[in-house]
Amino acid sequence: MSPVLKVEGLRKEFGGLVAVNDASIEVGEGEFVGLIGPNGCGKSTTFNCISGLLDQTSGTVELFGRDISDKRPDQIQKMGMTRTFQHTRLWRQMTVIENLMVPPRGQFGSSLGDSVRALLIPFGNPAEEERLDKAYSVLDQLEVPHMAHNLTSELSGGQSKLVDIGRSMMGDPKLLLLDEPVAGVAGPLAMKIFNNLRNIVDETGISVLIIEHNMDFILRQGVDRIIVMNEGEILMQGTPDEVRGNREVIEAYLGAVGETGGEEE
Ligand SMILES: Nc1ncnc2c1ncn2[C@@H]1O[C@H](COP(=O)(O)OP(=O)(O)OP(=O)(O)O)[C@@H](O)[C@H]1O
Ligand SMILES: [Mg+2]
Repeated sequence: MSPVLKVEGLRKEFGGLVAVNDASIEVGEGEFVGLIGPNGCGKSTTFNCISGLLDQTSGTVELFGRDISDKRPDQIQKMGMTRTFQHTRLWRQMTVIENLMVPPRGQFGSSLGDSVRALLIPFGNPAEEERLDKAYSVLDQLEVPHMAHNLTSELSGGQSKLVDIGRSMMGDPKLLLLDEPVAGVAGPLAMKIFNNLRNIVDETGISVLIIEHNMDFILRQGVDRIIVMNEGEILMQGTPDEVRGNREVIEAYLGAVGETGGEEE
C-alpha cells in the first residue's frame, strides 16, 4: 500500500545552519508513528516543511501520492492533513466548544475577522449545527465531554493540549501531525492522551505522526513505529522494541534521558 505521507531527502538550511539533513520519512495508512529526538534536532522544522509553512531547501514531500512541495498550508489542510503547533494556540476567552468551532489560525488562511464572523453566524444554520455536533463528538472521542463549556483560560496545560488536539480533528483529517502534544503534561494525562490517540487511529483508520521529546515515555505508549532524529538526520526508524535495542540510539540519548520529562512549554 502506498504511504499516506512520503518525505524524501528533506533538507532545510537556515543561513549556514543545516536544521534538517537528508531526512526520509514515511507514514502508512492507519499508522501511529512517533518522531523523537533531542532539543533542536530538527523535528518541528520537519513538520514546518511538510505542512507548507517553510519552503525546504531540497527534497520532496508527497501526501496521498501527490507532490505538495509547492502547496500552501491551507491547500495541504484541505487535502486532509492537519497539524498542531508546539505552543498551544487557543482563544483564551472562549469556551472549549467555541474553540473547536473556530478554524485554527494559520491553517485555513483565515484572518481573525473571518473566524470571529464565523462564530457570529447564528446557530440554526444547518452547517453550523453539523459543526457543533462534530465538536461534541470530538470531545466524546477525547473523553472530555464535561469540558465543553469551560473557558479555555481556566484549563490546565494538559487540558489545553487536549482541546488543541480536538481542534485539529474537527476537519476529519486523514493525517494528523502533532508537535509535542504532551510536553509539560502530567504523566497520567499524557498517557491518557496517547491512549485516546491509539484508539482513534484504530477506530477511524487515520494516521498520526506525533513529536515527543521523551524517549523513555514514547517507548511505552503503543505507537507502531518510532523515527529517531539526531542533529537534523534520521538516526533510525523501527518498532519500539527495535529502537530500545539500538546502540546508536542509546548513545545519542544517554545524555538526554535525564533532561526529559518535566519540560514546560
Ligand atoms: N525559523 C528559524 N530560523 C532560524 N533557525 C531556526 C528556525 N527554526 C528552527 N531553527 C533552528 O533549527 C534547528 C532545529 O530546530 P527545531 O525547532 O526544528 O528543533 P526541534 O527538534 O523541534 O527542537 P525542540 O525539541 O526544542 O522543539 C535549531 O538549531 C533551531 O534553532
Ligand atoms: Mg520542536
